[in-house]
Amino acid sequence: MRIDIISIFPEMFEGPFSHSIIKRAVDKRLVDIHVHQLRDYSKDKHKKVDDYAFSGGAGMVMMIEPIADCIEKLKKERKYDEIIYTSPDGELLDQPIANSMSLLNNIIILCGHYKGIDERIREHFVTREISIGNYVLSGGELAAAVLTDTMVRLIPGVLGNETSALSDSFQNNLVAPPVYTRPRNFRGWEVPEILLSGNEKLIEEWKYERSVERTKQRRPEIYNKLEK
Ligand code: ADE
Repeated sequence: MRIDIISIFPEMFEGPFSHSIIKRAVDKRLVDIHVHQLRDYSKDKHKKVDDYAFSGGAGMVMMIEPIADCIEKLKKERKYDEIIYTSPDGELLDQPIANSMSLLNNIIILCGHYKGIDERIREHFVTREISIGNYVLSGGELAAAVLTDTMVRLIPGVLGNETSALSDSFQNNLVAPPVYTRPRNFRGWEVPEILLSGNEKLIEEWKYERSVERTKQRRPEIYNKLEK
């Protein structure tokens, strides 16, 4: 999978992409991530990429030309499956979206700033808009990093234990069950006996029941959608 990110703050990705699972995926060449500085596509001598909104109003708007030039340059080099714009008014990111996007070959993620991007970019280039939650971030970079993480960890071969993405919360529309590690007893707080029993079948049943119970308590909106 190849991910091209267009941003005015490429440095914001250095932290999230140079550690842990994403770094491992990059090192194993299971994903190829390129972050492009949008200002490099500005024709202005000060590398300006924003301008006042027509009709006035507070806030600047990201200009169409640098974004169009950057996207068109990339599109000349390869075919893209999706051109995603991270925006608070996009589709709410969830596990099924991450699952389906992790199967794509080439995607562009465009990060917005200020009051947003010229609407014509959304009309003529963007194929999908994604929000990571019902709140407003200062820019699209954190959302792009979250989206990248959710997709990359699902690419086959990225996680050491192939089954572990399947047992994540939400993969079966349930949140994950509680987990424990050593010591068995900490200040009298015991690990549930059944997990030490070695009985795989009973352990699986216990985990499933805990997942259902947790989903019901903590995420009733997901629980109510379950087929019962
Ligand atoms: N940009 C600003 N806020 C955002 C959000 N909640 N999701 C995606 N992109 C954003």
